[in-house]
Amino acid sequence: MSGFFRQRRTLLDTALAMNRQELNQGMAGNVSIRVGNGFLITPSAMPYEECTPADMVLLSMDGRPQGRRHPSSEWRLHRDLYLQHPEAGAVLHAHPPWCTVLACLEREIPAFHYMVAVAGGDSIPLAGYAAFGSAELSALVTQALVDRTACLMAHHGMVCFAGDLKEVLALAVEVENLARIYARALQVGEVPLLSSGQMAGVMARFAAYRHGGPLPEQEDGA
Ligand code: 13P
Repeated sequence: MSGFFRQRRTLLDTALAMNRQELNQGMAGNVSIRVGNGFLITPSAMPYEECTPADMVLLSMDGRPQGRRHPSSEWRLHRDLYLQHPEAGAVLHAHPPWCTVLACLEREIPAFHYMVAVAGGDSIPLAGYAAFGSAELSALVTQALVDRTACLMAHHGMVCFAGDLKEVLALAVEVENLARIYARALQVGEVPLLSSGQMAGVMARFAAYRHGGPLPEQEDGA
């Protein structure tokens, strides 16, 4: 199997896994992987179950497609995230039910649980609303993701990026899990939040944890 075919197959497998893991359904969502000076992205308006690896679309950073299908209508958002974050190797956009519940309520996910730090800070922010596939939406999302790796999209869904497809799928699953717990906690009443000091402590421990090193000593309850 050629390397290029393998990338197309893995991209399609990730798109299928998004639906299997209930992050997405039908033709919603899209996913991409950085390839050379461009990226490979799922086609627009095609159910993933009906796609073959040959339906994945190669795009240059100036948006010129190569392939027999139209690229996802959100190609600009994916492109802009690759340009903004040189460390991004994969981008995923989906309509996960619990993320979308919060996004429709125009709520971000605050520091109600320490795992919010998985997206790189003390909240998973909310990007404002703009029409799907628009340059305005891409601008709002890239603004929300200046120092985060995941955000909700008002009245739409969520987007995240990571080093590769496996990591980006795992991040999407984690963010959806946090959204589910937060939305359920909100149903009970006011949800207390961790302080910025406590979240700074979590961020420091995350950095050590990711490298498999010993966790820093705990100071002042942080
Ligand atoms: P595409 O089918 O064009 O990828 O669009 C799906 C979507 O979720 C748009 O936001």
